[in-house]
Amino acid sequence: MPMITVKEVETADEKEMCLVLRKAVFVEGQKVPLDLDADGFDDEAYHWLAFSDGKPVGTARVLLLDERKIGKVQRVAVLEACRGQGVGRKIMQAIEESKSVSSVTCFKLGAQTHALPFYEKLGYTAYGDEFDDAGIPHRNMKKYRSFPSS
Ligand code: COA
Repeated sequence: MPMITVKEVETADEKEMCLVLRKAVFVEGQKVPLDLDADGFDDEAYHWLAFSDGKPVGTARVLLLDERKIGKVQRVAVLEACRGQGVGRKIMQAIEESKSVSSVTCFKLGAQTHALPFYEKLGYTAYGDEFDDAGIPHRNMKKYRSFPSS
Protein backbone atom coordinates (compact mmCIF):
# COMPACT_ATOMS: atom_id res chain seq x y z
CA MET A 1 0.00 0.00 0.00
CA PRO A 2 1.26 3.53 -0.73
CA MET A 3 2.30 5.86 2.08
CA ILE A 4 -0.45 8.47 2.59
CA THR A 5 0.37 11.77 4.29
CA VAL A 6 -1.68 14.96 4.73
CA LYS A 7 -0.49 18.48 5.44
CA GLU A 8 -2.19 21.79 5.97
CA VAL A 9 -1.35 24.20 3.18
CA GLU A 10 1.20 26.89 4.01
CA THR A 11 2.54 28.19 0.70
CA ALA A 12 1.08 29.68 -2.48
CA ASP A 13 2.51 26.74 -4.47
CA GLU A 14 0.70 24.26 -2.22
CA LYS A 15 -2.56 26.16 -2.60
CA GLU A 16 -2.10 26.19 -6.36
CA MET A 17 -1.68 22.41 -6.24
CA CYS A 18 -5.05 22.16 -4.43
CA LEU A 19 -6.69 24.09 -7.26
CA VAL A 20 -5.04 21.83 -9.85
CA LEU A 21 -6.42 18.74 -8.07
CA ARG A 22 -9.90 20.28 -7.77
CA LYS A 23 -9.86 21.12 -11.46
CA ALA A 24 -9.05 17.48 -12.31
CA VAL A 25 -11.70 16.04 -9.98
CA PHE A 26 -14.58 18.53 -10.21
CA VAL A 27 -14.18 20.49 -13.45
CA GLU A 28 -12.84 17.72 -15.67
CA GLY A 29 -14.18 14.70 -13.76
CA GLN A 30 -17.65 15.95 -12.81
CA LYS A 31 -18.16 18.76 -15.37
CA VAL A 32 -18.60 21.42 -12.67
CA PRO A 33 -18.08 24.88 -14.24
CA LEU A 34 -14.68 26.33 -13.28
CA ASP A 35 -16.21 29.55 -11.92
CA LEU A 36 -18.35 27.52 -9.49
CA ASP A 37 -15.28 25.70 -8.20
CA ALA A 38 -13.07 28.80 -8.02
CA ASP A 39 -15.72 30.82 -6.17
CA GLY A 40 -13.58 33.57 -4.66
CA PHE A 41 -13.44 32.09 -1.12
CA ASP A 42 -10.10 30.33 -1.49
CA ASP A 43 -8.11 33.19 0.01
CA GLU A 44 -10.04 33.12 3.29
CA ALA A 45 -10.28 29.31 3.51
CA TYR A 46 -7.85 26.85 5.11
CA HIS A 47 -6.64 24.15 2.74
CA TRP A 48 -5.23 20.62 3.07
CA LEU A 49 -3.16 18.54 0.66
CA ALA A 50 -2.83 14.75 0.68
CA PHE A 51 0.14 12.91 -0.80
CA SER A 52 0.49 9.29 -1.89
CA ASP A 53 4.16 8.28 -1.84
CA GLY A 54 4.96 12.00 -2.03
CA LYS A 55 2.70 12.78 -5.00
CA PRO A 56 -0.25 15.21 -4.47
CA VAL A 57 -3.50 13.25 -4.82
CA GLY A 58 -6.16 14.90 -2.66
CA THR A 59 -7.37 18.11 -1.11
CA ALA A 60 -10.11 19.86 0.88
CA ARG A 61 -10.78 23.31 2.29
CA VAL A 62 -12.60 24.71 5.32
CA LEU A 63 -14.35 28.06 5.65
CA LEU A 64 -14.89 29.34 9.18
CA LEU A 65 -18.34 30.85 9.74
CA ASP A 66 -20.42 32.16 12.65
CA GLU A 67 -17.51 33.61 14.66
CA ARG A 68 -15.33 30.57 13.75
CA LYS A 69 -17.68 28.14 15.50
CA ILE A 70 -18.89 26.51 12.26
CA GLY A 71 -16.39 24.80 9.96
CA LYS A 72 -17.79 24.45 6.46
CA VAL A 73 -15.90 21.59 4.79
CA GLN A 74 -15.76 21.96 1.03
CA ARG A 75 -13.98 20.72 -2.10
CA VAL A 76 -13.11 17.29 -0.71
CA ALA A 77 -11.43 15.66 -3.69
CA VAL A 78 -9.22 12.64 -4.32
CA LEU A 79 -7.83 11.76 -7.76
CA GLU A 80 -9.84 8.89 -9.25
CA ALA A 81 -6.85 6.55 -9.47
CA CYS A 82 -6.16 6.96 -5.74
CA ARG A 83 -9.66 6.47 -4.29
CA GLY A 84 -10.50 3.69 -1.86
CA GLN A 85 -7.09 3.86 -0.16
CA GLY A 86 -8.03 5.97 2.86
CA VAL A 87 -6.89 9.30 1.40
CA GLY A 88 -10.25 11.05 1.88
CA ARG A 89 -10.55 9.77 5.45
CA LYS A 90 -7.04 11.00 6.31
CA ILE A 91 -7.83 14.46 4.91
CA MET A 92 -11.00 14.68 7.05
CA GLN A 93 -9.09 13.51 10.14
CA ALA A 94 -6.33 16.08 9.54
CA ILE A 95 -8.96 18.82 9.36
CA GLU A 96 -10.46 17.85 12.72
CA GLU A 97 -6.99 17.74 14.32
CA SER A 98 -5.87 21.12 12.97
CA LYS A 99 -5.21 24.00 15.37
CA SER A 100 -6.43 26.43 12.67
CA VAL A 101 -9.98 25.19 13.17
CA SER A 102 -9.81 24.38 16.90
CA SER A 103 -12.59 26.91 17.65
CA VAL A 104 -15.06 24.90 15.56
CA THR A 105 -17.86 23.20 17.52
CA CYS A 106 -19.73 21.87 14.48
CA PHE A 107 -18.48 20.86 11.04
CA LYS A 108 -20.97 21.20 8.20
CA LEU A 109 -20.86 20.23 4.54
CA GLY A 110 -23.00 19.79 1.46
CA ALA A 111 -22.39 16.18 0.42
CA GLN A 112 -22.89 14.85 -3.06
CA THR A 113 -25.40 12.09 -2.37
CA HIS A 114 -23.05 9.36 -3.67
CA ALA A 115 -20.59 10.37 -0.94
CA LEU A 116 -23.05 10.14 1.98
CA PRO A 117 -21.67 6.75 3.17
CA PHE A 118 -18.12 8.18 3.12
CA TYR A 119 -19.09 11.03 5.47
CA GLU A 120 -21.39 8.83 7.61
CA LYS A 121 -18.40 6.58 8.35
CA LEU A 122 -16.63 9.69 9.64
CA GLY A 123 -19.49 10.54 12.03
CA TYR A 124 -21.48 12.99 9.89
CA THR A 125 -25.29 12.94 9.90
CA ALA A 126 -27.46 14.07 6.96
CA TYR A 127 -30.26 16.58 7.53
CA GLY A 128 -32.79 18.39 5.35
CA ASP A 129 -34.00 17.62 1.86
CA GLU A 130 -31.92 16.74 -1.17
CA PHE A 131 -30.93 19.79 -3.26
CA ASP A 132 -29.20 20.51 -6.56
CA ASP A 133 -25.80 22.20 -6.77
CA ALA A 134 -24.00 22.44 -10.13
CA GLY A 135 -26.38 19.78 -11.50
CA ILE A 136 -25.34 17.28 -8.80
CA PRO A 137 -27.74 16.08 -6.04
CA HIS A 138 -26.59 17.00 -2.52
CA ARG A 139 -27.65 16.66 1.14
CA ASN A 140 -26.48 18.80 4.00
CA MET A 141 -24.56 16.98 6.74
CA LYS A 142 -23.08 17.96 10.08
CA LYS A 143 -20.88 16.61 12.83
CA TYR A 144 -20.56 18.07 16.30
CA ARG A 145 -17.07 17.99 17.68
CA SER A 146 -16.81 15.88 20.79
CA PHE A 147 -14.48 17.47 23.32
CA PRO A 148 -12.80 15.19 25.84
CA SER A 149 -14.36 15.67 29.29
CA SER A 150 -11.90 16.94 31.89
N1 COA B 1 -19.60 5.09 -1.27
C1 COA B 1 -19.53 4.28 -0.18
N2 COA B 1 -18.46 4.25 0.66
C2 COA B 1 -17.43 5.03 0.36
C3 COA B 1 -17.43 5.89 -0.77
C4 COA B 1 -18.57 5.89 -1.60
N3 COA B 1 -18.66 6.67 -2.69
N4 COA B 1 -16.24 6.55 -0.82
C5 COA B 1 -15.54 6.12 0.26
N5 COA B 1 -16.26 5.23 0.96
C6 COA B 1 -15.87 4.53 2.19
C7 COA B 1 -14.66 3.65 1.94
O1 COA B 1 -15.07 2.37 1.52
C8 COA B 1 -14.01 3.64 3.32
O2 COA B 1 -14.71 2.73 4.14
P1 COA B 1 -13.94 1.82 5.27
O3 COA B 1 -13.47 2.82 6.30
O4 COA B 1 -15.00 0.91 5.76
O5 COA B 1 -12.82 1.16 4.58
C9 COA B 1 -14.27 5.04 3.85
O6 COA B 1 -15.42 5.53 3.12
C10 COA B 1 -13.09 5.96 3.61
O7 COA B 1 -12.82 5.96 2.22
P2 COA B 1 -11.54 6.64 1.57
O8 COA B 1 -10.75 5.61 0.82
O9 COA B 1 -10.81 7.44 2.59
O10 COA B 1 -12.23 7.63 0.51
P3 COA B 1 -11.57 8.22 -0.82
O11 COA B 1 -10.13 8.53 -0.61
O12 COA B 1 -11.92 7.34 -1.96
O13 COA B 1 -12.35 9.63 -0.95
C11 COA B 1 -14.16 10.88 -1.91
C12 COA B 1 -13.77 9.69 -1.00
C13 COA B 1 -15.68 11.03 -1.86
C14 COA B 1 -13.50 12.15 -1.41
C15 COA B 1 -13.68 10.52 -3.35
O14 COA B 1 -14.43 9.44 -3.83
C16 COA B 1 -13.79 11.68 -4.34
O15 COA B 1 -12.92 12.55 -4.41
N6 COA B 1 -14.86 11.69 -5.17
C17 COA B 1 -15.02 12.69 -6.22
C18 COA B 1 -15.23 14.08 -5.66
C19 COA B 1 -16.40 14.11 -4.71
O16 COA B 1 -17.48 13.63 -5.01
N7 COA B 1 -16.14 14.70 -3.54
C20 COA B 1 -17.14 14.81 -2.50
C21 COA B 1 -17.90 16.07 -2.69
S1 COA B 1 -19.17 16.21 -1.45
